[in-house]
Amino acid sequence: MSNTFTMIGGEGPNSYRQHSKYQGAVLLEASKEKINEAISTKLDIDFTSNLVNIADFGCSTGPNTFAAVQTIIDAVEHKYLKDIEFQVFFNDSSNNDFNTLFMTLPPAINYFAAGVPGSFFGRVLPKNSFHVGVSSYSLHFVSNIPKGIKTRDSPMWNKDIHCTGFSKKVASLYLDQYKIDVGSFLNARAQELVSGGLLLLLGSCLPNGVQMSETVNGIMIDLIGSSLHEIAKQGLIDQENLDTFILPIYFAHADELKRIIEDNRCFTIEIFDNISHANEEYPLDPEYLTMTFKVTVGGSVASQFGQDVMEKTYELVKKKTQEMLPQIAKAKPGMQYLIVLRKY
Ligand SMILES: C[S@@+](CC[C@H](N)C(=O)[O-])C[C@H]1O[C@@H](n2cnc3c(N)ncnc32)[C@H](O)[C@@H]1O
Repeated sequence: MSNTFTMIGGEGPNSYRQHSKYQGAVLLEASKEKINEAISTKLDIDFTSNLVNIADFGCSTGPNTFAAVQTIIDAVEHKYLKDIEFQVFFNDSSNNDFNTLFMTLPPAINYFAAGVPGSFFGRVLPKNSFHVGVSSYSLHFVSNIPKGIKTRDSPMWNKDIHCTGFSKKVASLYLDQYKIDVGSFLNARAQELVSGGLLLLLGSCLPNGVQMSETVNGIMIDLIGSSLHEIAKQGLIDQENLDTFILPIYFAHADELKRIIEDNRCFTIEIFDNISHANEEYPLDPEYLTMTFKVTVGGSVASQFGQDVMEKTYELVKKKTQEMLPQIAKAKPGMQYLIVLRKY
């Protein structure tokens, strides 16, 4: 399986575009004021021309990316009150559905748009080329599954499809990989960002002391895993193939993430906040929950096992979600973060 984990593209009923309101709520409702304030007080652009470059790393197909860049542009305009031309770089993996992204650009945008395909763990832009960057719900991906985890006869073999947090050895291997990847992400951005520029990070992590499997995200991913095991028992997929299916995601604990940023030493941390918002916890609706995890994880299931198996798996996931609602209702809350970094 490719370690590039893309969202379901297009504009159809199963697309990320139609089912990313949860992520969007954090961007639109909860962080807007804090982003405005950070741009107003921390951004320091040394204007040599009237061009300001904005970049979104892991933009997917929208519409959240459009909301994020517009929030940034409005705040920059409000701060500088001068005639500015904006250019926006939309970055994602090259297999992202950039066609849908550009076909659905909002009408009458006040910026020039450019696609930047490539992994954000490496350089994707020239040095000193953007002034404000954002990455939303994208920094829980790792570039590689840690060695040994996929091999059944390895002492580190992980029988789950993600890092549940309950095996210390597996969690520490994931964390090692996560440190490398977030470090690479920050090093690349530090070169691309102008000095005095800002990098905004939004997403989910775990409150300190909470294990992944104790949260709704963890429970839902475990249900996808147990559904796949049922499908393997029915003989529709090979158990051996399933044993190698591990998602390239790691939800760090808040302190782990903070420490990685501090150790990187390229940025000052201006804001590291747990933000709450209207959609804080997922609604207790099996249909909604299943769809949310279909548009995000379903693409990887389909690419490993085929479209039919993916559809059958999610029928089971919906059924199991219905049965598990009382446990889901008691899940521990995750943490939604807004981090604002400033380049020295
Ligand atoms: C959950 S989506 C978030 C999309 C959007 N930012 C939002 O907030 O709705 C995560 C995105 O990160 C992208 N992504 C994951 N790993 C990446 C990488 N190494 N380089 C570039 N994009 C990546 C995925 O393709 C996906 O589009």
